[in-house]
Amino acid sequence: MDYKQYITVVEDWPKEGIKFKDITTLMDNGTAFKSAVDEIVEYAKEREIDLVVGPEARGFIIGCPVSYAMEVGFAPVRKEGKLPRETIKVDYGLEYGSDVLTIHKDAIKPGQRVLITDDLLATGGTIEATINLVEQLGGVVVGCAFLVELTYLHGREKLEGYDVLTLMEY
Ligand code: PRP
Repeated sequence: MDYKQYITVVEDWPKEGIKFKDITTLMDNGTAFKSAVDEIVEYAKEREIDLVVGPEARGFIIGCPVSYAMEVGFAPVRKEGKLPRETIKVDYGLEYGSDVLTIHKDAIKPGQRVLITDDLLATGGTIEATINLVEQLGGVVVGCAFLVELTYLHGREKLEGYDVLTLMEY
């Protein structure tokens, strides 16, 4: 399917010069959203995953239907202060400054085969931090799946050695 027809490119948002890729118009279309999720589910089946992990907030939107279809669990990665029990954390770089991502310490059992999902691969900072958390807990990252890749930001370079699926490129 040509998914790009369902993405709305919003000029100068959230700030001037950025062409924001709005996935909500893809999610609004039941056929397109199901097709995108189904493609990631096929990818997940080939990798015999035990668990899906996704960073807030849009990683949840992609990851949860995949985990439901695969009948495996979903573990959320969240910004600091959002998860109620014992967590591990990682600092990650943003365009300006840095932020912290966390995961519950007991969310992954050593050796579990993990698929990481998110809506967008941009600089790769978020996915790199998420991989770091999964691996700290002994999980094995068997794939990373995204709807959109912004190739001009070279996020893939941070993912060398990992298997990556993206459904569309800009
Ligand atoms: C966006 C997007 C990805 C990340 C990609 O999330 O949903 O998670 O940025 O960028 P990167 O590859 O440069 O790290 P954002 O940080 O805006 O969080 P949100 O989904 O909670 O709004």
